Amino acid sequence: MIGIASDHGGLELKQEIIKHLESRNLEYIDYGTNSNESCDYPVYARKVAKAILDSECDKGILICGTGIGISITANRIKGIRAALCHDTFSAQATREHNDANILALGGRVVGPGLALKIVDTFLDTPFSGDERHVRRINLIDDF
Ligand code: RB5
Repeated sequence: MIGIASDHGGLELKQEIIKHLESRNLEYIDYGTNSNESCDYPVYARKVAKAILDSECDKGILICGTGIGISITANRIKGIRAALCHDTFSAQATREHNDANILALGGRVVGPGLALKIVDTFLDTPFSGDERHVRRINLIDDF
């Protein structure tokens, strides 16, 4: 299950991504926002982070205007590894190396064509499971 949320700055891209997930028959839960009214991205970052920690979802997608505020918030939460990716190389590497559980995107930074390729790369790339990467991921939570 994929958890997806955005603020107003990421709403348009979120709607494109949802259409794409539906075309791939991938299950998702939309945690909002669903209005163009100005709202606070930390609220939506926390909803998806909580869904992952509660095992309601195994991966998340968070979108704000830049992807920065929403990823900063998500990364404050222990157990969350949110990766802000605006290219497919980073999306692949963060799954293989960091086992990132949230993809963050900036709706005002990337167009839908590239964003959907980044989403597919993120969702379709498994964690490598290499011992050195597991060790480093464990070190993140040790601090
Ligand atoms: C909202 O205007 C904007 O600040 C927000 O979407 C995001 O870019 C913050 O990091």
